[in-house]
Amino acid sequence: MTKTRLHDLLIRPKQAADTALIQTFMAERWGGEPLIIDCQCYYPSTLPGLLVFQGPALIGCLIYEVQHAAREIIVLEVTKKQLGIGTELLQIFLRDAAEAGCQRVHLMTTNDNLDALRFYQRRGFSLSGIRVGACTAGRQLKPSIPEIGDHGIPIRDEVLLEMVLPAKSTA
Ligand SMILES: CC(C)(COP(=O)(O)OP(=O)(O)OC[C@H]1O[C@@H](n2cnc3c(N)ncnc32)[C@H](O)[C@@H]1OP(=O)(O)O)[C@@H](O)C(=O)NCCC(=O)NCCS
Repeated sequence: MTKTRLHDLLIRPKQAADTALIQTFMAERWGGEPLIIDCQCYYPSTLPGLLVFQGPALIGCLIYEVQHAAREIIVLEVTKKQLGIGTELLQIFLRDAAEAGCQRVHLMTTNDNLDALRFYQRRGFSLSGIRVGACTAGRQLKPSIPEIGDHGIPIRDEVLLEMVLPAKSTA
């Protein structure tokens, strides 16, 4: 398959007027809000983020939560994969976080998500923990969390990845 870069891409910060757009995106791709991470409910439509459009179509987003000196990636998803869009979103997010004085970024992904584990580790993140049974427990809050994920792997656990950011230069 020939891989080509997409044309007509716009990446911009999420705005208040994007709430319904994100709710629709989450409904189509994540069974709707809330997202359950480590048995906590998150509402991506209410959080800051970066959105990527091809023409009028939303084709990806990176949604995060600011947690004092850290930022947690809540959603990173693109609908047109393997074209460099996820990398571009992550780079902009990391640059913005460092400029804002953020010291650490982290995220949780599920045990079946081998693509994400590869993606993040190849981009400087390290494994930093595992919440055994977190997805199993999360189904009590959101029964639509699938039982079986990528590659036919049962979805049970959450894997924590993190990256420590360089200290902000004061020069
Ligand atoms: C994880 C995810 C965000 C990655 O996004 P993506 O846009 O496909 O990522 P990229 O295209 O930047 O990089 C993916 C691979 O494609 C390759 N690639 C990037 N641009 C390319 C191009 N123009 N031609 C060929 N290959 C390319 C990269 O080298 C990379 O490979 P690597 O991991 O071996 O380095 C995406 O797979 C996704 O949306 N997954 C579902 C949601 C999810 O699981 N999110 C993570 C948990 S929060």
